Amino acid sequence: MSINVKNNVFWIGKIDWELRKFHGDEYSTHRGSTYNSYLIKEEKTAIFDTVWAPFAEEYIHNLSQEIELDKIDYVIAPHAEIDHSGALSLLMSHMPDTPIYCTQNGVKSLKGHYHQDWNFNVVKTGDRLSLGQKELIFIEAPMLHWPDSMFCYLTEDNILFSNDAFGQHYASEYMFNDLVDQNELFDECIKYYANILTPFSPLVTKKIKEVLAFNLPLDIICASHGIIWRDRPEQIVEKYLKWSDDYQENQITILYDTMWSGTRVMAEKIAHGISSTDKAVNVKLFNLAKTDKNDVITEIFKSKAILMGSPTINRGILVSVAGILEEVKGLKFKNKKAAAFGCYGWSGESTKIISENLKTAGFELIDDGIKTMWRPDNEGITQCVEYGRQLAAKVRL
Ligand code: FEO
Repeated sequence: MSINVKNNVFWIGKIDWELRKFHGDEYSTHRGSTYNSYLIKEEKTAIFDTVWAPFAEEYIHNLSQEIELDKIDYVIAPHAEIDHSGALSLLMSHMPDTPIYCTQNGVKSLKGHYHQDWNFNVVKTGDRLSLGQKELIFIEAPMLHWPDSMFCYLTEDNILFSNDAFGQHYASEYMFNDLVDQNELFDECIKYYANILTPFSPLVTKKIKEVLAFNLPLDIICASHGIIWRDRPEQIVEKYLKWSDDYQENQITILYDTMWSGTRVMAEKIAHGISSTDKAVNVKLFNLAKTDKNDVITEIFKSKAILMGSPTINRGILVSVAGILEEVKGLKFKNKKAAAFGCYGWSGESTKIISENLKTAGFELIDDGIKTMWRPDNEGITQCVEYGRQLAAKVRL
């Protein structure tokens, strides 16, 4: 059941091919995921992370095939979220006095979840734990992506255990980055970054620079989800540096919902105006009521500008549009432009509401947006195409 990572380091996690939703229903996992736990068998033996609670018994059974549980010297708990700590209670019931190494915030969150007074040992950046010939070096990584998060580096083997950072929700029996489909892998990496790490981008840049300044040789990155980075692990570090630096591609994304196709027609005509003016820009349209929200967020992450449209309903906007506006407020996208559009029959508040929300979410408004009455007639269609043309010129790179 284990996979040898390097020398005496073994993957002992769980590949979850069935998973389609994560964080409750909050994050879609079209390609499943993995919960990566690692066993280091030097003169001293350490466990890094466990697995999600539904797989706790299976995990303990498999682990006990690898090592007698009372021979485990140390448990490293880099992050208390349940997908990592879910098997901890069961594990500790077999070895209740074994020391658990975690950050100060790790103690708080582990106690908060499990209400146990285990043998906690608080570590800070630079603290070391001897495994014999090799050492573990701890590196706190607060807000990447929880206050308790921490990395850990294994000397001699030059392995960085990065917990959630550099991970992706991607099930693969191959388990190593050089063996899997690269498009699938990086699609999942950017989706993971966009949806989970975007609000913490300044901290991502800072933490990576701090770790690089240690000048530690790096052979492998063992993240806690998805594949293990053994082939040029620096490639995902470079991607993170790019993504954390107000990332954008030459893309304009048009997001909308529609009742009787009026706002959809507007979206399509604006798109035509943009693409007929700027042949290089990648214009994409998504109906928010029909598209996975995490995929939408990934497309927003890649965009230099977005347009968001809703018809006016009950002096407000459609709920799918309101939902995505709430999401983007929390994600704190930077360096992106935006505008609103929508059709209406009577009062016509939708563009104003959307514009206000986009501004609150940190987008730079391009203008006051565009609205048309009812289903756009020839004049309305012409206005939308012309609006698209002017918008393309305003946001051209
Ligand atoms: Fe993989 Fe933050 O949990």
